[in-house]
Amino acid sequence: MVDVQVRLEALRNRAVAELRAVQDEADLERWRIAYLGRRGALAEVTRGLASAPASERPRLGQAANQAKQTLEQAFAECEQRLKVAALERALQAERVDVTLPGRPPALGRLHPVTHVMEQVVRLFERMGFQVAEGPEVETDYYNFEALNIPRDHPARDIWDTIYVRPPEILLRTHTSPVQARVMEQQQPPVRVVVPGRCYRYEALDASHEWMFYQVEGLAVDEGITMADLKGTLTAFARQMFWPEVRTRFRCDYFPFVEPGVEMSISCHACKGQGGPCAVCRGSGWLEILGAGMVHPRVLEKVGYDSERYTGFAFGMGLERIAMIKYGIEDIRLFYSNDLRFLQQFP
Ligand code: PHE
Repeated sequence: MVDVQVRLEALRNRAVAELRAVQDEADLERWRIAYLGRRGALAEVTRGLASAPASERPRLGQAANQAKQTLEQAFAECEQRLKVAALERALQAERVDVTLPGRPPALGRLHPVTHVMEQVVRLFERMGFQVAEGPEVETDYYNFEALNIPRDHPARDIWDTIYVRPPEILLRTHTSPVQARVMEQQQPPVRVVVPGRCYRYEALDASHEWMFYQVEGLAVDEGITMADLKGTLTAFARQMFWPEVRTRFRCDYFPFVEPGVEMSISCHACKGQGGPCAVCRGSGWLEILGAGMVHPRVLEKVGYDSERYTGFAFGMGLERIAMIKYGIEDIRLFYSNDLRFLQQFP
């Protein structure tokens, strides 16, 4: 039966050639079914052996077995080849070029107001003040009453208030309520600075925001005088601004201090000369904070003996300090999230 042998030979050649083109497991499985499957090409030839003469059958059977072995081995080799190829692809995908320069992490920076806040707090810490904090959502009592501002007091007009639950719960309009909170918790001597957010019901313009930051200061002890207030705040100004800065204190009114003052520093642009200076509008001075000697009634409300103790307090707006330091002309720039503005600071 030359016929069977020729067919086996042809089948083997075709199968091996096709196997070379196999690219993936699906191809391979189709190939296996086509040649080695129960209804595949090899099975078909083998079935034909039944009609071969008995004397030929052993030889043809052997040839068929050999063909089967060849195909099975070729199948196993191809399976192995696909596995290796898949592994190589996976490794390739994970390849890293270790000679590439690294990606520098994008560094953030401090907001200019945060930066100024840290500077202010650090300077007062060096002078012996400790940091205290209080709530932004405050009661009428601490924001006003404890500060000698009773309901219907005309001075309430100074602070346009945002109420959370009128008339008792509000957003603090300044950091001064923390004065009373601190004094209720400790006995003199007191020396604290209080950084934090404040809120006011404001019409917005270049110098008014409805949310801003203040740093409050409070020092209470025996024998504290106005000279301590002036000395402390002048020392602060010299370190915060420039060493030759001059300070000026003029009368101002706040119900929780007596006497009350506003402090100004000499204008850096015109060196206090005034004239046509745009920074100080010709006055030679820049107002930076409110201060005064703590009102005896404020001390008495927290149970301090106002005959024995005196103190000074001050409050400054941090945006104002930052605007002077960095020459910023519009307060709204701080909270409009413009990176072109924010990236200019250290
Ligand atoms: N709390 C005042 C304000 O916000 C500032 C101030 C603080 C004045 C302490 C005197 C003493 O305007």
